[in-house]
Amino acid sequence: MKKMKTAVFVSGGGTNLQALIDACKSGIIVSAEITCVISNKDDIYALTRAKEAGIETCVIKDNFEDSVLSFLQEKGVELIVLAGFLSIVGKKLIQAFPNKIINIHPSLIPAFCGKGHYGLHVHEKVIAYGAKLTGATVHFVSEEVDGGVILLQKSVAVLPTDTPKVLQKRVMQEAEWIILPEAVELVSSGRVEVNGRTAIIH
Ligand code: GRF
Repeated sequence: MKKMKTAVFVSGGGTNLQALIDACKSGIIVSAEITCVISNKDDIYALTRAKEAGIETCVIKDNFEDSVLSFLQEKGVELIVLAGFLSIVGKKLIQAFPNKIINIHPSLIPAFCGKGHYGLHVHEKVIAYGAKLTGATVHFVSEEVDGGVILLQKSVAVLPTDTPKVLQKRVMQEAEWIILPEAVELVSSGRVEVNGRTAIIH
């Protein structure tokens, strides 16, 4: 069966990328293959993870959108996964990949999302607010930051003893690294229908 060619965009440690690589190996993902890992930074561990898995990497620092679009089209990429990617994806890319760009966000959108809500800052705000429940969200990317249609969410309890770092790790382990591979398999196997603001899973 033809696998959907998938590009993963990264900007950091790449733990979500690693979850995708492991899911392809373990058979959690069977309908997609990671054909390339793309970053806007060259000194990040996510690129090491890609190289160790034998996946092509590409660092694009200038004129990102135009450069990445032609690279993706040349490679025949059909699905883009933002996995800890800290740059904004623009209109050109979104229009070229309708409902084929997904992002993992470390909160239960619409809580604790949008401008300035990324990485550890999200968990700092969750704890400061006194929230009892947080988690992760996979959503389709739209022009509104973190505002696209939600595909999957998974909740994680906030404990009184949590520090931002402890909470971040638990959200990754118990939510992000589970729902992102699941989302990639759902989209690449054609089981997701987007109807207005609702993602229907068949
Ligand atoms: C994760 O919390 C992810 O949700 C956010 O970036 C953080 C780092 O991700 N988008 P990774 O370890 O680089 O995958």
